[in-house]
Order: sequence, then C-alpha cells, then structure tokens
Amino acid sequence: MNENAFDSDKEGLEPQVVVLKVSNMFMINYNYLIIDHINSESILLDPAWEMDKIELALEASRTTLKGILLTHSHFDHLHLARPLAEKYDCPIWMSREEITISKYSAPQLQGIGTKPFWVGSLKIKPLFTPGHTLGSMCYLIGNNLFSGDTLFYEGCGLCPDIESAYDMFDSLKQITNTVKPTTRIFPGHKYVKDPGQVFSSVYQNNIYLQFNNKHDFASYRLRKGQNHSKFFEFQ
Ligand SMILES: [Fe+2]
Repeated sequence: MNENAFDSDKEGLEPQVVVLKVSNMFMINYNYLIIDHINSESILLDPAWEMDKIELALEASRTTLKGILLTHSHFDHLHLARPLAEKYDCPIWMSREEITISKYSAPQLQGIGTKPFWVGSLKIKPLFTPGHTLGSMCYLIGNNLFSGDTLFYEGCGLCPDIESAYDMFDSLKQITNTVKPTTRIFPGHKYVKDPGQVFSSVYQNNIYLQFNNKHDFASYRLRKGQNHSKFFEFQ
C-alpha cells in the first residue's frame, strides 16, 4: 500500500472490473477482481466460496494479486481472504472498526481508515458506511463503487436495530453525495439487476434512497412483516 500524500489530488486509473459470481449452497455472492493493466496488478474484493474460480480469473488476468479488500466481516464476504493472502503473500484491508467488532484476525490483516491510498495506479477511496455492520466500508476505485451489503440495486443491507438503521440512512446519503450519476455500483449480492449498473439508475429505482429523514427511513427499514428469508434469495 502506497500512502502518498503528494498524490492525494490525483485521480487513479480506471480499472477493469471482472465480476465473479460464486456460491455455496443457498448463498450467492459477487466477488470482484479489480485490474490495473498498467502495472499488471490486481485487487480482490470480498473473496468467498470458490477458490478455483477466483484463481482461474487471476490467472487469466495475467496480474499479480496485490491485496484483498473487505467491505465487512460477515463470513460470506471474507471466507477466502486468509488462504488467498497466505498463498499470494498480500495484505487484507478492512476498516479498523470492523476488525474491532468482529475480532477477525489474520497475519496479513491491516486496519484502514478513510484516507485514500494507492495500489500501483489504482486509487482506493474508502467510504465509512456503517449500518449493515458497525464497521462496514464501501470502496470507490475509479468510477466504480464496491458497495458490499450496504447498497444493492434493489435495496440496502439488513440493519439489526434502530441505531444501525439511522447509521444506514447516513451512509446511503454519503454515497449519494459522493458518487457520480455515471458511477457503476458493484454490490455483494443481487436480486435481479446485474452488478455494474450506473448510480443514476440505482437512485431512480431504489426506495431506500428516497427518504428525507432518518426516522421515516428507520421505520421502513425495520418494518414488521418483512420476509427475511428473502435475504437468501439472491440470484
Ligand atoms: Fe453481510
């Protein structure tokens, strides 16, 4: 990780994003291989479930894996982080808050804050977006937002209680105020629309982005009668 204060105003390379759909029984996740073709380097985001598929994608990219970014500590997002970091001798990055609350540990684990950092020609801008978990992060790389379980095309992540729902409201506002209409959104799961839709489309179709105050948002997010089994009906 090259933290270079002198380059803080520079924009990074627009990466190639390889979408990897991986599954384990009823769980389907989306992993992302984020490629810097200038330096033949790559970053993996939230690797889980299918080691062979991930390694084949790495091989096909002809890049060196330089690090693993984690949006949060749920098992379906970090399942393969440690074995991949060991095999490729690279760091794992997750928010310091998420490390504290999850107690996840690995020799390669490095806690990060919201200071942007460089990996080769890629500029990684972490957004601290609590709500789904207390330490969730999204990552803006080029004009792509990797939104974990914070923002889906069709909704937002589950919030365990009212304080978390308030946090989620603020996190979604932060995303809305940070990304461009053309920013592509790459979530950890999908219901219908494929990952990589532009934010202007997400904004128009996602009811959770329409609320003007946190109380109405929290009431709706925590409303009774939700079918939480739907959480597992990702495609
Ligand atoms: Fe999650």
